[in-house]
Amino acid sequence: MNITTLISAKEISNRVSELGQDISNDYQGTVILISVLKGSICFMADLLRSIDSDVTIEFISISSYKGAMKGHISLHDNSIEDIQGKHVILVEDIVDSGRTLSFLIELLSKKNPKSIDVCTLLDKPARREVEIPLSYIGFEIDDYFVVGYGLDVNQKYRNLPYIGYIEQ
Ligand code: IMP
Ligand code: MG
Repeated sequence: MNITTLISAKEISNRVSELGQDISNDYQGTVILISVLKGSICFMADLLRSIDSDVTIEFISISSYKGAMKGHISLHDNSIEDIQGKHVILVEDIVDSGRTLSFLIELLSKKNPKSIDVCTLLDKPARREVEIPLSYIGFEIDDYFVVGYGLDVNQKYRNLPYIGYIEQ
């Protein structure tokens, strides 16, 4: 399969540093980064290291189905610590329809955090079905199916250090 680079490793690294600085400047006190597995793993690891204010981390595992089960979302693990009264940032790889984040924001809101913000590496606004407020966006992209830097197609290509799209 032929993969064309859309965002280079260097561009990702520069932008993630900027996002980390923005987050460091925006929060007084501790912020909890909640990584939405598996796609945000690389982004989470780099973003975490570019934040120089107090930060803790949690993980949440979720799948959204396409095709016949479109719109169905399954939560695999909801063992995150108590977030009541705390600042939370959901760390996502990409916002596409917005359904995954909408589901998660509703779920986490029930735990009464002080605030919930979203930090997404990629935003694909062309396919949005549910409006989600995105506080931090790495890159806005056109309607490509992208892989690399944690993002997959059938669990493959997560290991690419850059983000690319598959040429048909
Ligand atoms: P949403 O619920 O439609 O916003 O979809 C979000 C999830 O679908 C993301 O967290 C990704 O895991 C996956 N996804 C959406 N677009 C892409 C893509 O272009 N490449 C890889 N995964 C994607
Ligand atoms: Mg994801």
